[in-house]
Amino acid sequence: MNKNIKWHQTAVTKHDREQLNKHKGIVLWFTGLSGSGKSTIANALEKNLYDMLIHTYLLDGDNIRYGVNKNLGFSSKDRKENIRRIAEIRKLFVDAGIVVLVAAISPFKEDRDAARHIFDKEEFIEIYVKCSLEECEKRDPKGLYKKARTGEIKEFTGVTQPYEEPANPDIIVDTTKQNINQSVNLIMSFIEKRIKL
Ligand code: PPS
Repeated sequence: MNKNIKWHQTAVTKHDREQLNKHKGIVLWFTGLSGSGKSTIANALEKNLYDMLIHTYLLDGDNIRYGVNKNLGFSSKDRKENIRRIAEIRKLFVDAGIVVLVAAISPFKEDRDAARHIFDKEEFIEIYVKCSLEECEKRDPKGLYKKARTGEIKEFTGVTQPYEEPANPDIIVDTTKQNINQSVNLIMSFIEKRIKL
């Protein structure tokens, strides 16, 4: 960091923006294997929140890789940078008083922990979208596991690169046992208090 750069405190604060929005700005961070259901659940939850007049934004790993992160691949180093940038973008949205949903594999504990530590404990909710590799591979919605098994895709999470399960997530939704509605309801009941002013 250049020592000649100084942080400007804005006249309108996060607290002011939250008052205007009539709710708090927090992060819901979805982590899980490819095909586990992160994007599906995050989308359904966002719709639910939107219908309740909550201001939201969904940062989906795949979508962010179209623009801001289009120069990044899937090596451990690039994934780390991917998560670091998503965490920084999300910090801005939370400062805007928005409920931010992040759906990214975020396979490494160290990177998820770094993302969490930018925030107050109450503002960051880690949601583990749990689904066995066997089931994700059976679903294979984008045909990526097949390509990973034949070697067409290298460094694929769960196949040729590790996924480190969260040791202590705030919420676990198991998509082999719960349907989308049940998962959304579980998350809603957890976050209701956290987004209230
Ligand atoms: S990460 O690990 O958090 O940096 O990944 P993320 O930004 O969420 O991107 C994951 C999506 O990229 C597609 N894809 C791959 N995933 C894992 N490993 C490899 N090698 C890979 N190549 C492409 C895949 O569609 C992931 O999306 P989801 O929604 O998780 O299936």
